[in-house]
Order: sequence, then structure tokens, then C-alpha cells
Amino acid sequence: MNIMSNFKDFVLKFVKEKNSRIVLALDLYKELYSLPINTRKEERKKLLNSAINLLSNLEDYIAGIKIGLPFSLCVNLDNVEKIIKDFSNKYFFICDFKIADIGYTNSLIIRNILNIGFNAVIAHAIIGFKDGLEKIVSEAKKFNAGVLALCAMSHIGAEEFINKHYIELLEISAKSKVDGFVLPATYPSYISIARKLYPWALIFSPGVGAQKATFGSAINNGADFEIIGRAIYDAENPKKEIEKILKEMVKS
Ligand code: XMP
Repeated sequence: MNIMSNFKDFVLKFVKEKNSRIVLALDLYKELYSLPINTRKEERKKLLNSAINLLSNLEDYIAGIKIGLPFSLCVNLDNVEKIIKDFSNKYFFICDFKIADIGYTNSLIIRNILNIGFNAVIAHAIIGFKDGLEKIVSEAKKFNAGVLALCAMSHIGAEEFINKHYIELLEISAKSKVDGFVLPATYPSYISIARKLYPWALIFSPGVGAQKATFGSAINNGADFEIIGRAIYDAENPKKEIEKILKEMVKS
């Protein structure tokens, strides 16, 4: 159980403390399961240590951490729990498993995620309200955790279907009383429209950096946070890279 009273107030505290609206996508990865089973423990430990070093080095520059399936499948949830516990005063933590099942199954997934200390979960809005997002929100409330609804995506294929429905997906999400939305920096008009329609909502935006939207562009269109992965963790010197990114965000 975490101690926050409200997800929005909780994350904005980190913004104020760090003067940063960056969320790091911690997608560190190793193709562990192609290795012999007796060598995986050592490789898992190395990956875990890289993550711990990264988080220790960047704590002055980043507000929150997003952890998804790539990293969790490599290191396992016990180790994700350890990271969250060790850094719970330094960052907020979002679980990005893009939940999209029936209500019952979603509850099973969410309980494990939230028992290890994540502060919020990301779920697909496309599952709808009834037995969909509303159930996820009510489950998350028991843990005092937030829910972010994925209403449009950053890759080009998203324009084929999901992004055509983003206004309806925002409506379903708002009706479900989520804390905010995930919207793509690569299609900034979706962010500005959502910001006008739902001024109360937190907006998290991936797509800057490796996916080519410019740093600061999502924030300028009304997002609260930019989610950045490869541009930071693949950099030769992640700390220097973030300093550069933060300057670009101020200038933009
Ligand atoms: P990169 O390395 O591209 O990492 O900076 C971006 C992170 O965000 C995730 N991602 C998305 N998540 N909707 C989402 O909910 C999206 O449209 C989207 N685009 C990217 C990606 O999995 C990675 O963790």
C-alpha cells in the first residue's frame, strides 16, 4: 500500500522538487531466454545493476519511472519491487503493462502490480467502461493508486484504427474517472484537444526523442510529462544527455 492521497498531487510534488517533467521509460533489456537457463541469474543481476546505477545517477533530473514488460520479464517482479522500494522517495513509478483484458483478469494482474508498490497503472481505454476501465479504477482505488488510460498511440499504424477513435476513448476514460491519459507526442493535436476538453487530466506523452517528436513539444501542446526511453538510456552519458534535453525543453 502506498501513502499518497491523490495521484495527481503525488506526481506534481516530484515535478516541483526536481523541476523536471521527464518520465524515464526503463526498457533495459537482454535476450535472457535465448541463453542457457544456468547463466540467466548472472545476466539478470547485471541488468538489474545497470538499472540501479541509472536511477541513482539520474535522480536529480527525472520525476518518474515507467516500467513495462520488456524490463519486468527480464528481471522478474521481485526485483522490480526491490527497485521501487529502494527509490520510492526519489521517483514515482508507473506500471506500463498496457492492461487490456476482461475485468476479472485485469483485477488479478493489477493486484500483483500494486502490491509491489507501483503508484499507477496504464490500461487500454479500448476495453470500454463497464467491466473495463471502471473496474480497473475501482481496483486501483483500493491501493490508493492512479490509472492512466491509453487513448491514442505514437506509431504510424495507430492511425489505422485506435487514433481514429481517440475522442470516444477520452470520453470512456473520463467517465471511468481515470487520473489521466497517455497520448502521443508524434500526433500533438491529440494532446492539445484533450487538454482543452479535460483540463483536470494528467497527460503523459511518449514519442519524443527516438520516435522523432522534439523534446518539449508534447509539453508545449498541453502534456504534463514527456516519457523518454532510448534517448536517455542508450546515450553514452545519460546524465549529460538529460541536461541537454532539459535545456531543449525550456527553449522549445
Ligand atoms: P522511447 O524509447 O521510444 O520509449 O523513447 C517510449 C516508451 O513509451 C512507450 N510508448 C507508448 N506507450 N502509448 C503508450 O502507452 C504509446 O503511444 C507509446 N509509444 C511508446 C514505449 O513502449 C516505451 O516504453
